[in-house]
Amino acid sequence: MKGITTAALALILSCSALFADEQFNLPVSFNADGTINRPFNHRQWVNVGTTLIPKGEINIIDGNPISTSEYIDTCVEPMSYAIYMATGTWPNGTQIVKEFTSTVEAEPGEVLVESHYNGLAMLVKDMERFPAETGHLGFFNFGHHPEPYETTASAMPREQCSSCHEATASDQQYIFTDHHIGLKRVSD
Ligand code: HEC
Repeated sequence: MKGITTAALALILSCSALFADEQFNLPVSFNADGTINRPFNHRQWVNVGTTLIPKGEINIIDGNPISTSEYIDTCVEPMSYAIYMATGTWPNGTQIVKEFTSTVEAEPGEVLVESHYNGLAMLVKDMERFPAETGHLGFFNFGHHPEPYETTASAMPREQCSSCHEATASDQQYIFTDHHIGLKRVSD
């Protein structure tokens, strides 16, 4: 049993090295001007949890109050997810999105039904592009509105995005790992 676990871990770690060095799985897609391309398949990534934000609360990416309650789904690129779950460390190349979904106004006692996707934000861990102060994370915003989203995005200023994430630096590696039910590791 122990042998199998060790072999599985070795395989994942070697994938991790490939991922970091040769963009093994889904490459983080940067352009020459430093903008990033929107991932084309983020809804096939691993959904690690959903947060419900009540109507009237401020949306984090545009600073405006939301007109309907919104779900936020957090989805992790599958190789990043596998490596984190096996090792407890977010690898270089990690990609995580949060996608916002508007809802239909519900009467008391009714279920809160989703109406349409309404925005996409993303973080990328890249040891070369982003500084240690942000945990080597870059933050991106593809718009808070119905689709189509922007196809490219520039890195957001540190003060706009990183501030809250930096509070998790020492125990959660700048990512709100503890907020997501799907990121609980057996050893946690
Ligand atoms: C006011 C504090 C705050 C600010 C500012 C902030 N975030 Fe976050 N962020 C959070 C919290 C709390 C979570 C985890 C809870 C959730 O939303 O699911 C989170 C989660 C995320 C996640 C999912 C990965 C994770 O760490 O859980 C992404 C991606 C993300 N934020 C991107 C951004 C971007 C892009 C910006 C800037 C536009 C930003 N954040 C600004 C508080 C903040």
